[in-house]
Amino acid sequence: MNWHNALTQILKIKYPLVQAPMLGVSTPEMVAAVSNEGGLGSLPVGLQSPEKTRELIIKTKTLTDKPFAVNLFAHDIPTIEPTQTQAIQEQLMRISEKYGVAYTPVDLTQIRHFSYQEQLDVLIEEKIPVVSFTFGVLDQPSIERLHAHGMILIGTATSVREAVYLENIGIDIITAQGIEAGGHRGTFLFDEPLPQIGLISLLPQVVDAVKRPVLAAGGITDPRAFKAAMILGAQGVQVGTAFIGSDESLAITPYKEQLRKSQDTDTVLTRAFSGRWARGIRNSFHDEIQQLSLEYPAYPILNTLTAPIRIASQKQGNTQLTTLWAGQSAAMATQKSSAEILRSLIIGVEQITT
Ligand SMILES: Cc1cc2nc3c(=O)[nH]c(=O)nc-3n(C[C@H](O)[C@H](O)[C@H](O)COP(=O)(O)O)c2cc1C
Repeated sequence: MNWHNALTQILKIKYPLVQAPMLGVSTPEMVAAVSNEGGLGSLPVGLQSPEKTRELIIKTKTLTDKPFAVNLFAHDIPTIEPTQTQAIQEQLMRISEKYGVAYTPVDLTQIRHFSYQEQLDVLIEEKIPVVSFTFGVLDQPSIERLHAHGMILIGTATSVREAVYLENIGIDIITAQGIEAGGHRGTFLFDEPLPQIGLISLLPQVVDAVKRPVLAAGGITDPRAFKAAMILGAQGVQVGTAFIGSDESLAITPYKEQLRKSQDTDTVLTRAFSGRWARGIRNSFHDEIQQLSLEYPAYPILNTLTAPIRIASQKQGNTQLTTLWAGQSAAMATQKSSAEILRSLIIGVEQITT
């Protein structure tokens, strides 16, 4: 089967399959395995310091000489609202006591939230060929700077309007993220209700609205969905949840087990963990926060506040107070190596004859 198209040409890859960046799940080993197999691995570095960003890039480079993408979070850094943060800290304390998971309140004055602008020098110095971003848009000087260094830019859109916006500011490839997708919504135009468009509706509309190559993201865990996305006009797919169960994933074993046992109805959209809408398997933390009428501190402040309880929960192997980000096709995810997951998707598409 001839996989060559505009996307594989621009990204210099063999197969039009991008491993989705998944902060907290993707590792340099996962990224390198996918790139070595002919896909495009994506290294998530959102919220990381420039030093940590460089460390992760260098580690990935020791494992592959193939191209891989680095993924940034392009949100604004919000100001801290003390009354909001105090109310949520009190609730986190209550929940931690109820479930027997340690929680040390976060002193936000001691926390530094890094912006993507602070990471750009590292990306340029390390000659990263592809930069993807979500949660917002890169500012114009950053776009021009990265383009001047020959970098290909991939942005995330959850509506046709967002896709056209990305094209108009010069983004090279657009990821259309359907509502099925696991993890955070990439939504960045907030003057209308959260777009909740399924990929089968969103994808052809985005493809018709923009001239740039489009990547399809959301619910692609098996070859039929991959093939369907290509028929709907995608030039490639971005696959996240399918890699959570992989050998190279940071997901704790009970998280992988939850995926395996999950059903189509088990995921929910929630802002409870981070302040931004995200899809994951419903658990006690979601339910506890959901029933309170709290105003959520903006991302990434709530994310920082909930970090200690999530980390403590993971250390105990407890899936009830941590994020279980996953898409609506979670039940179809398998536990294999990242290379095998990629190969089975590719071979599966090649075997579809109709
Ligand atoms: C655990 C997890 C973490 C994610 N983290 C990121 C991230 O750091 N950056 C990003 O651009 N997208 C992130 N996403 C969203 C993915 O890029 C992609 O849109 C999504 O995984 C596609 O849907 P699927 O999970 O059904 O394959 C994450 C998704 C998951 C499941």
